[in-house]
Amino acid sequence: MKISVIGAGNVGGLAAMRILERGIAEVVLVDIVKGIAKAKAFDLDDARSIAGHDNFIEGSEDFSQIKGSDIVVVTAGLARKPGMTREDLLKSNYEIAKNISSHIKRFSPDSIIIAVSNPVDIMTYVLLKETGFDKKRVIGMGANLDSSRFNNLISKKFNIPGSRIKALVIGSHGESMIPLPRFSLVKGKPLTKILSKDDVEDLVKATKNRGAGIVSLYGSGSAYFAPGAAILEICMAIIKNRDAVIPVSAYLDGEYGSSGVCIGVPARIGRDGIRKIVELKLDQEEKELFSASVKSIKESISIIYKQ
Ligand code: LAC
Repeated sequence: MKISVIGAGNVGGLAAMRILERGIAEVVLVDIVKGIAKAKAFDLDDARSIAGHDNFIEGSEDFSQIKGSDIVVVTAGLARKPGMTREDLLKSNYEIAKNISSHIKRFSPDSIIIAVSNPVDIMTYVLLKETGFDKKRVIGMGANLDSSRFNNLISKKFNIPGSRIKALVIGSHGESMIPLPRFSLVKGKPLTKILSKDDVEDLVKATKNRGAGIVSLYGSGSAYFAPGAAILEICMAIIKNRDAVIPVSAYLDGEYGSSGVCIGVPARIGRDGIRKIVELKLDQEEKELFSASVKSIKESISIIYKQ
């Protein structure tokens, strides 16, 4: 198996490390910034005998090195600065994603793309549109990271391990993110049944603000350890053909009553990419939040494509 990671920043580097340490694929790291991909690749490769895996990693400035990849992870793009929303990144990262799409189409036409650059739902759409790939083969990482953050915050609140919790976040990986307390279970019980409305609301807010909180603590750049883990989760589901239900940004074609948009929803992921979008029975309030999220993503898409 071959996984290419485009963008050798913190997220790309961490994703490469997590993939290598699982021993699931050889990795090619590509970045147009001179030297960085090679440096990270040398550094990661030097750990191979101690970290205990046998897969090689190459670093390059040359996109042709991604040739024949099974998965291409796109992390390239500018990261958020304090006070910036993910949507602020829209225009510059669109140009970057468009350029990368042409390389993926040329060198890895049969790959599955995992979009990571922000705003991720829009970048997923751009990669899908610009490559012309089947909608199954372009998957956005965001909702599983948000769900993992929600899980962590619930776990802290109850002081129980995350493995006893099932947390779910859908919608955009942005301002209109939708943590779903009714579908989030603590030892099998919905959060809404075991916490007060205010406590639930606090957890929802904390989940939505978690990414921005990390950005502001770093002062420059955004989170990368949990994003790296969220990328690995999707790679594992594909490579191991797990048919696992993972919240990802997926292209909707009628599901949830929407079309022409990529947005966070639970989906079954396996060797061929997105097998099926899982449709939850949302209540009225959840449906309204989802529609608002679809609307905000579509507005951003229309800025790019002037629909
Ligand atoms: C975050 C960035 C990766 O949520 O969007 O931390």
